Amino acid sequence: MMPPETITSILHGSWAIQVLKSAVELGLFDGLSEGALTAAALAQNLGYPVKGVSLMLDSLVGMGLLERPDLATHQFGKPKERLDSPALYALSDCAAAYLVKESPLFMGMYLKQHDELDKMWRYLKDTVKSGQPVMHVNNDDKASEIFPHLAESIIPLNYAIAEDACRFVYETVLCGQSKALKILDVAAGSAVWSIPFALAHPGTTISALDFPAVLKVTERIAAKFEVGDRLSLLPGNWRDVQIESQSYDVAILGHILHSEGYELSEKLLSYCFDLLKPGGTLIIAEFFANRNRTAPLHPLMFGLNMYLATTDGCIFSIEELSEMALRTGFNRVIRHNSVDYVSPLLFAVK
Ligand SMILES: C[S@@+](CC[C@H](N)C(=O)[O-])C[C@H]1O[C@@H](n2cnc3c(N)ncnc32)[C@H](O)[C@@H]1O
Repeated sequence: MMPPETITSILHGSWAIQVLKSAVELGLFDGLSEGALTAAALAQNLGYPVKGVSLMLDSLVGMGLLERPDLATHQFGKPKERLDSPALYALSDCAAAYLVKESPLFMGMYLKQHDELDKMWRYLKDTVKSGQPVMHVNNDDKASEIFPHLAESIIPLNYAIAEDACRFVYETVLCGQSKALKILDVAAGSAVWSIPFALAHPGTTISALDFPAVLKVTERIAAKFEVGDRLSLLPGNWRDVQIESQSYDVAILGHILHSEGYELSEKLLSYCFDLLKPGGTLIIAEFFANRNRTAPLHPLMFGLNMYLATTDGCIFSIEELSEMALRTGFNRVIRHNSVDYVSPLLFAVK
């Protein structure tokens, strides 16, 4: 008989979430941001009993969020001795970038958003039984309520990949030409996918299309990245916003097709095809399942997330979207695997 490891490791995921969120709220990552410390020193700085801090730090090492730079030189024995042990704890690169409050890509807002998503997920059983989503985020009023916060909270999740998408366009699609681009960011949210383009070239302009309530966030974030003077706004539902044909070099669909479902996604690809100049590029970021829907796990569960949150939302395989883009008229599609990212990016060239 095999032990039930597959099941217990899933169940223990909820403990890991508590360790992560509590560590952020307790300020453990902030407390290590100036350099490595022992558990006793960190506990003293923060004013907590050392035992809990020490146990938290060990768990965070196990989760890959902290490192033990001293391990080459020290060996440690019994738990009792460890409370004043000289073991040092340091931030991993990932924790330093995303879990320290002073970091520009601090994920604090997303951790709160994650709590909100959890509330929706508690209705999973009901939604599976009834076939009714918990909410309809693709309805204009609900979108205006939810997306200003959500779109800002996911900036840290996408920023590094967006930078990679920008590099890929310049190096591979444009074969090394450094030129200003006219960009349309559809369902732009914070404009996280287009900001790296504006930072890469001083002549690049961004048109951000989204609901008016979200575009207030877009303006604030663009100003923060000092590209606000090159941002123009197209308020509304994309289905109602008319755009002149062949007017953009690049169009971006960052995590929007999964709310739209199959039929509207095909229409949205046609919409983007029409507004791109010949030779223009559509960038698609999605959580793609493999063709047989067996992996990766996150996109598979994201399908459930969209079932909970929308009427027609869905996930795609990259093959499905590639075929859809070619059917819509695009000349070729290129997929690009970003390092450490769950899904490839899809580039469709007109
Ligand atoms: C998951 S967020 C993604 C935002 C951004 N593209 C990103 O990747 O960070 C989805 C965005 O799509 C916008 N959106 C959803 N449906 C839309 C529609 N029909 N027309 C315009 N924007 C829409 C939402 O307001 C939200 O900003």
